[in-house]
Amino acid sequence: MSEAVSYEVVSDEAGAIAVIAIDNPPVNAASHAVREGLAAAAARFAADTAQVAVIYGKGRTFIAGADIREFGKPMQQPGLTEVIDGIEKLDKPVVCAIHGTALGGGLETALSCHYRVAIKSARVGLPEVNLGLCPGAGGTQRLPRLTGVEAAADIVTSGRHVPAAEALKIGILDAVEDGDDPLEAGIAFARRVLAEKLPARRTCDENDKVEASRGNEELFGALRERVKKKAKGQLSPQLCLEAVIASAELPFTEGMAREREIFMELMKSPQREALIHAFFAERAVRKVPELETGKARPLNSAAVIGGGTMGSGITVSMLFAGLPVTMIERDEESAARGRQNVEKILDDGVRRGKFDKAHRDHLANDLYSVSSDIDSLKDADIVIEAAFENMGVKKDLFRQIDKHAKQGAVLASNTSYLNINEIAAATDRPQDVLGLHFFSPAHVMRLLEIVVADKTDVDVATTGFALAAKLKKVGVRAGVCDGFIGNRILERYLSIASYMVEDGTSPYDIDRAVLNFGYPMGPNQMGDLAGLDIGYANRTRKREEGWKGRYAADYMDRIAELGRYGQKTGRGFYIYEDGSRVGKQDPEVLEIIDQVRSEKGIDPRPLDEEAIMRRYMAAIINEGARVVEEGIALRPLDVDVTMLFGYGFPRWRGGPLKYADMIGLDKVLADIREFENEDADFWKPAKLLVDLVGRGENFDSLNKATNA
Ligand code: 3HC
Repeated sequence: MSEAVSYEVVSDEAGAIAVIAIDNPPVNAASHAVREGLAAAAARFAADTAQVAVIYGKGRTFIAGADIREFGKPMQQPGLTEVIDGIEKLDKPVVCAIHGTALGGGLETALSCHYRVAIKSARVGLPEVNLGLCPGAGGTQRLPRLTGVEAAADIVTSGRHVPAAEALKIGILDAVEDGDDPLEAGIAFARRVLAEKLPARRTCDENDKVEASRGNEELFGALRERVKKKAKGQLSPQLCLEAVIASAELPFTEGMAREREIFMELMKSPQREALIHAFFAERAVRKVPELETGKARPLNSAAVIGGGTMGSGITVSMLFAGLPVTMIERDEESAARGRQNVEKILDDGVRRGKFDKAHRDHLANDLYSVSSDIDSLKDADIVIEAAFENMGVKKDLFRQIDKHAKQGAVLASNTSYLNINEIAAATDRPQDVLGLHFFSPAHVMRLLEIVVADKTDVDVATTGFALAAKLKKVGVRAGVCDGFIGNRILERYLSIASYMVEDGTSPYDIDRAVLNFGYPMGPNQMGDLAGLDIGYANRTRKREEGWKGRYAADYMDRIAELGRYGQKTGRGFYIYEDGSRVGKQDPEVLEIIDQVRSEKGIDPRPLDEEAIMRRYMAAIINEGARVVEEGIALRPLDVDVTMLFGYGFPRWRGGPLKYADMIGLDKVLADIREFENEDADFWKPAKLLVDLVGRGENFDSLNKATNA
């Protein structure tokens, strides 16, 4: 028996029960040791006198899936498929007792057991699709045998975690028990098996539900269409569906072979590599030096200064986490507007069925209050300033916050660009100040840039990460610079997009190329959504401060000067008719652009989709490299996670720096050098990029060097 799996027999008057415990922290992944242990336990159970077996996981969860860290390495026998086939074939019944999560190979193990019981809080699922894979140990063949093809297709192609109550209802589980001890639940079910003499019931033999869909082309066609639409260029959802359909079209063993074929195909795909990078990167961003020694300060109450879009979104995200929030505005009227903004978000939640009216009222009335008196922040553990984006305003506010906040409170600014060192210097306690850059809508977007300034105390930075965890956000550590990680990179790709337009490419072609690349929208569609007046105001300010470099936004200024601010005015780059959010192209916009080009004497040189994306990506990658080079991002993976969670970068491409690694850094550098001939100011290659190419390394070498 391996150390990861133990075996003992407990006997009482009901009979002899074999207890097989998996112990492979932190998540009981089905590593080589677990597979070996399970195979040995099954063999021992087959040979001894125990009449029924219970398999369960020690610690916080049942098996959370195959051990992802083993992917890409030579497979060590036995494989999971063989192990769980061995369990299913046993003649004596095996009960699987689930707590925490049974995911991927974990649920597949459970499906091969003859009975499944879970405690109430457990969840099950086949999330392989989110790693660019499909279930590879029979999940696509056994699950539909329990739930039918349609429900299985939903679970396998979405990768969602199914709560125990639903899993019971749709046939995945046989029982759900109160309490939190899976072993207790498993033993109780095993006693029932003994008392009722229940047989070893094999999922692979349950054919009624899959046969019910055999040849149902109408159903398969509808499912294919639905999945293709949602997949947006991602391969795995579509192939996962084909594997599920095979369960209805082929006998079990042939279906298993088809699943294996698809699994192996996906295992080789670059999308799989990118998605697994994203999985680990999302977790590795928590590995920052401050957390090694820092101790989070208490986080039991918060104050938010400002009740506009950002302030109200931040407030709601904290209310969702059960944190009491006092919102502070400058006068009664603004405070009332702030309350309205918060209540609107909460009402939307009720309308969309996210929570009920009673919960909405609890958040709005028990946890939330508004005030126009800044002294109301005096009891807050954390104060988040989300006021107007202006250094003078922020410094003035921080002077006041300093006067009223209790000692030890964490003082945060939600600025998206400004220098946190300068803001901190306005207080007598710069060690308590940090940046917490939320993304709009703040109650939805999962990214939180945690900006650690020169004097920020390690405990304060640690509290920033603790807040991210509490709000279920992904916190990324960033250093101080104009725009931190994300907006600094954003500025570069918006610039290159405007250069391309001015030089001859249609803004609509740029949006289409970016959309086809996998983003949810192109830069001009994003401008229309955010409001073209915002960029216009920023540019005006920057020009007044003395704009340096090429100014390619005259056409955007003209569109904004016509009062065309985007979706909110029904017209921007696109025309939005009857309140629609889907815009139609506007010939007048193209005329304005032509006009600007001819005034500037530009001979239009339109670019095709490939040329557009080479420039767009090179701009992102080059700036991403600079952000790492300067230590603004700790590692390349922090850039990737920022762009994935805050800027719509397609997850199945892993993030911009993973994408760069995958296409080859030498190729990216060659592109930048080629573009440098067109515009030497914009396209200076980042030193880090040049160095990495020179050393024959890539961004991932840097990730690995930090043990991330
Ligand atoms: N393999 C290896 N390591 C894993 C892992 C896995 N399947 N799942 C989680 N881990 C690691 C994480 O990387 C993390 O490591 P770290 O502490 O060094 O950063 C640690 O376990 C704890 O994970 P989380 O921080 O994510 O813990 P949570 O409690 O927040 O979440 C979870 C637990 C819901 C189980 C989440 O980890 C998760 O979703 N895991 C992946 C599940 C999955 O995708 N399973 C399918 C795998 S593919 C497969 O099974 C193929 C099969 O069909 C053949």
